[in-house]
Amino acid sequence: MTDYKKRREALLSRIDGDGFLVVNLEGSDWVSMYYLTGFTGEGGLLVTTDETLLITDSRYTEQAGREVPDLPLHPVKKNYEEEAADAVKSLGIKRLSLSARRTSHYTVTRLGELTGVEIVPAPDPVGELRRIKDADEIARIREATRVTEESLSALLKEVKPGMTERELALRLEWHMRERGAEKVAFDLIIAAGENSSLPHYKPGDRSLREGDLLLCDIGARVNHYCSDMTRVFSVGEPSDEAKELYELVLRANRAGVAALRAGASGVEVDAAARKVIADAGHKEHFGHGLGHGVGLEVHEGPRLSPLSKDGMEPGMVVTVEPGVYLPGFGGVRIEDLLVVTEDGCESFTSFPRDRLVIVG
Ligand code: GLY
Ligand code: MN
Ligand code: MN
Repeated sequence: MTDYKKRREALLSRIDGDGFLVVNLEGSDWVSMYYLTGFTGEGGLLVTTDETLLITDSRYTEQAGREVPDLPLHPVKKNYEEEAADAVKSLGIKRLSLSARRTSHYTVTRLGELTGVEIVPAPDPVGELRRIKDADEIARIREATRVTEESLSALLKEVKPGMTERELALRLEWHMRERGAEKVAFDLIIAAGENSSLPHYKPGDRSLREGDLLLCDIGARVNHYCSDMTRVFSVGEPSDEAKELYELVLRANRAGVAALRAGASGVEVDAAARKVIADAGHKEHFGHGLGHGVGLEVHEGPRLSPLSKDGMEPGMVVTVEPGVYLPGFGGVRIEDLLVVTEDGCESFTSFPRDRLVIVG
């Protein structure tokens, strides 16, 4: 059972203010709302040491009764800003903290006007808490990874030259949902041949041909938590260039994983993998960071990159995903999802990666 109260207490201990407001309208901060309460509807959440109020409207009243029966409800009769302002005044808050990253400028301005209280924005305190996963979160990410890997295995049995990227993406989503995914964790990236050099490609009508690289960057969302994994295959016999590229990225992936441990910095882990690629003369063909945190969101803290300010701690769940992208030829990325432990890391992903596998 998730201890939401403990999470709210941890939040209050890291903010400068006597109350914290989450505003989740049209999904704008569903992640903080869910993390702090387990509620999946729209609304506001006002957290103080003495009380927590859920501010929501009639569309979600019954749902709130099921999902958060212990939370007192502040019903919305006017609009959200006015109701949130009334709630702030009713709890006697003098300094109101909220997330600068996740609350709109409009909402912050209106709240200031309507309440007259001092607003003390913090960058993203709930996001900071979410960096370290508890056992339940880890179990959910593991399950999302299992669904992803089993779905990929099922897809590979169907892959044939002539199928389009879009067909493959649709089939894969079907396999994921059949195995219990709520939905995909992000728009699936299925890229054939020369399209695989676009790191965040959108699948299109390109059909698979003999000799293509086939890049699958995929993830399922299960019980609200994401997985994220990339594997690359060869449709038919690969060229020597494709095999070399694959071997290089695999070495970079292994170097990154070997460097991942508590106490290492995000810069150091990134550098371990980046050096392998740079030493092979492909520095300019690896533009993105080595990895990112994964949890309720597919991209969250911490970051592994040359610009990262993060240090690795046990319980952080991150990707290691070096890639080399050659415009006109194609790209290879090998992405694993791992949890940081005291003396290293443990991989959730176990889908084979040790050689370029032929499919179709
Ligand atoms: N799936 C997107 C990424 O790997 O960052
Ligand atoms: Mn990723
Ligand atoms: Mn990915």
